[in-house]
Amino acid sequence: MKKIKVSAPGKLMLFGEHAVVYNRPCIVTTVDQRIRVLIELVFGDEIKIDAPEVGVAGYTKKLGLLGQHKNLPKGVQFLETSIKNFFEKYKVKSGLRIETKSEFSSEFGFGSSSAVTVAAFKGLSELFKIKMDNKKLFDLAHKTVLDVQGVGSGFDLAAAIWGGTVFFVTGGKKVIPLKVKKLPLVVGYTGIKADTPTMVKKVAILRENNKKLVDSIFDQISLLTNKAKTLLLRGNFKKTGELMNLNQELLDALGVNTKELSNLIIAARETGAWGAKLSGAGGGDCMIAFIKEEKRKAVESAIQKAGGRVIKVRPNAEGVKIE
Ligand code: MEV
Repeated sequence: MKKIKVSAPGKLMLFGEHAVVYNRPCIVTTVDQRIRVLIELVFGDEIKIDAPEVGVAGYTKKLGLLGQHKNLPKGVQFLETSIKNFFEKYKVKSGLRIETKSEFSSEFGFGSSSAVTVAAFKGLSELFKIKMDNKKLFDLAHKTVLDVQGVGSGFDLAAAIWGGTVFFVTGGKKVIPLKVKKLPLVVGYTGIKADTPTMVKKVAILRENNKKLVDSIFDQISLLTNKAKTLLLRGNFKKTGELMNLNQELLDALGVNTKELSNLIIAARETGAWGAKLSGAGGGDCMIAFIKEEKRKAVESAIQKAGGRVIKVRPNAEGVKIE
């Protein structure tokens, strides 16, 4: 029967994490490591999923029970709920066989769940010949993320859909692709997997107890994110790096920094990076630094010496596409 292969890129947050949950902007870029999803229409009333990178082999579920998941890896929960939401929205139905393959570990915080969700909607819309523009795809994917984990600004979905580097405001109120050709990025992984909903909740509690203070931190993050947009478009990476450092200190104030992240960030700064900060929810995952190309080797080895793993990525990758 009919089948299709789709791929979507991973992402890295450059500026504005956490503030973007509260109606402020962020800037995100995609990376050249992708999730690939094969979807095949099959006879019967079941879906079958193989997702080896999260330890799922031969998983089956009756169509009528889609979305009722307990103890399933996150990526599979997102896949199931994507299929359920697509079938409900467009009043279609079929048995499916799905295989996923990831070029990056789901531990990095590169957004494997959002990339899989976006790829699933794109693939299903092709298979069922239903036109979905980027905005429609975004809205349904965002609903899916909220159905599964209750929180999420949707920035990672926008990155996977539009590709490149994107200026984004909560829930897709603004999605502005930024024409930046290159980004002088180094990425260091702490080796610790962070859980985004837990970190978002942590900030929500801090805000509940200190609303004015925390909102004013979000305002400052918003200011620097807007400024970073202008500087990135001008290719002024040195000054953008300065803003990364400021953003990092504000994230620290929000309580999402860790010793491991700090060690890698300081190592990068001390070897001459223009700026460095955590990327994403904090609590672990990755840090990023902006560097002068001549300093790349020195910064990378300093990150390794400080206990991090350097992840080679090329930013500004293409958005979701049919392979
Ligand atoms: C997580 O990578 C970024 C957060 O801002 C959450 C979100 O925007 O959904 C913390």
